[in-house]
Amino acid sequence: MPTKNHIILPKWLDDYIFNTLSATFEKKCKDLVVLNWEATDIQCYLGTYFPRSFAESYGIFSQYFQKNRNDYDSQTELTIFDFGCGTGGELIGLIAALNENLENLQEVKIYALDGNNHSLRYLELILSESKKYLHFDILHQVIPVVIEDFYDLSLVENECLKLRTYDIAISFKAICEFVTKQELEEKNPYAYLINTLLPHLSDNGIICLADVTSYSDVAHNWLPSIIDNGINSTPMDVICKNENYNETFYITHSHKQNDISKIAWRILKTKRS
Ligand SMILES: C[S@@+](CC[C@H](N)C(=O)[O-])C[C@H]1O[C@@H](n2cnc3c(N)ncnc32)[C@H](O)[C@@H]1O
Repeated sequence: MPTKNHIILPKWLDDYIFNTLSATFEKKCKDLVVLNWEATDIQCYLGTYFPRSFAESYGIFSQYFQKNRNDYDSQTELTIFDFGCGTGGELIGLIAALNENLENLQEVKIYALDGNNHSLRYLELILSESKKYLHFDILHQVIPVVIEDFYDLSLVENECLKLRTYDIAISFKAICEFVTKQELEEKNPYAYLINTLLPHLSDNGIICLADVTSYSDVAHNWLPSIIDNGINSTPMDVICKNENYNETFYITHSHKQNDISKIAWRILKTKRS
């Protein structure tokens, strides 16, 4: 029985990634440390994991904008930052949700950071193609940066964050890859990223964090608890989250029916004083 979490990849996107960009669907993709993957590995990522991130983000933001449409009614421009965007399934899912829900939007600016250049190249191609199907204009800038020390984002802050404010900052399934297991135990990367992004949010700005829900043997805790502990130490409130322990999304495309993706996600806003 289809539910709001059963999502079909739009036909234009399905055609574009599988026919034009030669994406492949392969569950046997390498272990998920994507930073150093070569172009053919990224084609596998594009056909296997990109549709999942699309579905997660489209599902999350469709619900969010339907409930909070009034907050965005007068907004004609939005600026988005994606930390660890990879091929950017979550960005395309987000702009598809914007396209369906915010009819007054005229321009969306996207800043997308990742250390894998092949992924960024695919993202740029998909963003350019997506313009044909949107009622607003998109301007995008990819930020090809390999972060050597996650707990020193001062370069990112000075070079890209400080220059503008963001209405929506997102990070999907990336933070775990940026830190070593030991760093996950000793410090909280979610709190660190939130506190880094916070000064650069617009008045109505939100952060959306989504991640896998595995158990960390090193931190002796489940990732969703680590995320919540991180959020609780910041001046941000959770205004929207997955209902149960994790949320399941089903994505159907030309190479797979009902592929399953399970994530924990939170949307955060600054606490009102
Ligand atoms: C699992 S992928 C998620 C990508 C995308 N957000 C998605 O949901 O499909 C993690 C991403 O983090 C990037 N990444 C990991 N460590 C990094 C680092 N130290 N500096 C820059 N990017 C990094 C990888 O290149 C990869 O694209």
